[in-house]
Amino acid sequence: MLLSLLTTLLGVLPLAFGGQVPIVNSSVKPSDLSISATTPGKIQTTPSVFSASGYGDLTSTESIFFWYFSARENNATAPLSLWFNGGPGSSSMLGLFQENGPCRINNASTAVALNPFSWNNVANVLYIDQPVGVGFSHGTMDVGTSEEAAADVWTFLQIFLSDSRFSGLQSHDLAIWTESYGGHYGPTFAAYFLSQNAAIAAGTISGITLNLKTLGVGDGLTDPLSQYPGYITYAGSNPYHSLVSTSTITSANNSFLSSTGCKEQITACNNDGTNAVCSAAQSFCNDKILSPLAGNFDVYYILATNPDPYPPDLTSYLKTIETKVGAESTWQETNDNVYDNFAATGDWMRTSSPDLETVINAGVRVVIYDGDADYILNFNGVEAMVANLNMQFTSLLAKQSFSDWTVDGQLAGQVKNAGTFSYIRVYGAGHEVPAYKFGNLAYGQAALQMFTQIMSNQSLTST
Ligand SMILES: *[C@@H]1O[C@H](CO)[C@@H](O)[C@H](O)[C@H]1NC(C)=O
Ligand SMILES: *[C@@H]1O[C@H](CO)[C@@H](O)[C@H](O)[C@H]1NC(C)=O
Ligand SMILES: *[C@@H]1O[C@H](CO)[C@@H](O)[C@H](O)[C@H]1NC(C)=O
Ligand SMILES: *[C@@H]1O[C@H](CO)[C@@H](O)[C@H](O)[C@H]1NC(C)=O
Ligand SMILES: *[C@@H]1O[C@H](CO)[C@@H](O)[C@H](O)[C@H]1NC(C)=O
Repeated sequence: MLLSLLTTLLGVLPLAFGGQVPIVNSSVKPSDLSISATTPGKIQTTPSVFSASGYGDLTSTESIFFWYFSARENNATAPLSLWFNGGPGSSSMLGLFQENGPCRINNASTAVALNPFSWNNVANVLYIDQPVGVGFSHGTMDVGTSEEAAADVWTFLQIFLSDSRFSGLQSHDLAIWTESYGGHYGPTFAAYFLSQNAAIAAGTISGITLNLKTLGVGDGLTDPLSQYPGYITYAGSNPYHSLVSTSTITSANNSFLSSTGCKEQITACNNDGTNAVCSAAQSFCNDKILSPLAGNFDVYYILATNPDPYPPDLTSYLKTIETKVGAESTWQETNDNVYDNFAATGDWMRTSSPDLETVINAGVRVVIYDGDADYILNFNGVEAMVANLNMQFTSLLAKQSFSDWTVDGQLAGQVKNAGTFSYIRVYGAGHEVPAYKFGNLAYGQAALQMFTQIMSNQSLTST
């Protein structure tokens, strides 16, 4: 989830390197999670899949929670795919249980059921609660920028991949998939991993080279200057219905364009602006543009009025399994302290497009995807961000027109491919794209086709 609230607070600093992955229960399987399953027969058909949850201790006071599921087939050769939810401050258990994991939460939030379109059909998947403080992770909350988050995630991966139980994965292809604030996290983490790899190759640091091959970003906030006009466009005209009155749109448009308005503030932030300038831009733009233009609709899925009960809340279910997964803290969907730390630096308004360009130009296959029923990171904004990228495939991309993208013969979206870059607008999907269905396709079916094609280093093609 991407939050649109704002308060301010600050955190403190990092300590010594702990270097452990205390795996609490390496025999937890998706089938073990069905404590009160409504469809136990179906769940028991789940193939036995190795799973492990636990913590990587960055320091004696900073512990990062992970949950690993090996691929349902060929786990010895399947790539390793990391998943990060956004926020900042939101738990990756959202992705696991609401979106793309081996089992999904039911509407009553009481149990999980097998997800036949899980991303571990084709990859070993690793869900990470980060930064420290998020989800089941716990400890000193000193991360307030995407760059600081990247450094901690890199350290966590060094710990994870050094552990004998996972060191075999060092040589596998590595992917980063993320969503929402992941429009910052994904490009920043990927660019950081590449720069650390270069430093390892140059002998200036030591560490495990991360074999990064793929980056996927769904409904992401990457470049606010390109993306904020999208709220104005989408609120007035989208594939479904307008969200607010013309006068509300006019007023937001004025707040965007006025001489001290949102556009000016985002520009100042990205012109070496201080944290205070960037933080004020976030506050102003979200108060004057993002919030009012949503009207009565759910910002994550405009076909529902606010609040949409779907995807179902995880809190009560995760409470029932916390012992089983070795949780050392009480789960919460979003940690407000972490959010506040980021809000205080204004990281939100700083563009991540340069990092995205670096990653694309380095030859990493990249897909940007967006659900067409999501307002909060709507496709108008994301497509403007993509069009403004200055990367090796820019002119090739500019020559492409959208093509229909089908799944099993059924229309599911519109795509553009250029070199190893792809963009897809996914029909019928809200903010958490794999949580939705379109037409006669099943929940998550279109998202899995996208994931499978990109993970096998292909452009997006119809089936
Ligand atoms: C691990 O989880 C399994 C399945 O829930 C359970 O039977 C077993 O007792 C657990 N082992 C430990 C050491 O907690
Ligand atoms: C692959 O699956 C086997 C069998 O479940 C398991 O023992 C092994 O640890 C898994 N390896 C990885 C890297 O997931
Ligand atoms: C769960 O809720 C969603 C959204 O309200 C609805 O579309 C779906 O049919 C429900 N699923 C079941 C199994 O009732
Ligand atoms: C926003 O204001 C500009 C400048 O007055 C105008 O050209 C544009 O049409 C307006 N957009 C909307 C959606 O009202
Ligand atoms: C992915 O495909 C591109 C061209 O389509 C190729 O240049 C690149 O080497 C491939 N990457 C891998 C990891 O095979």
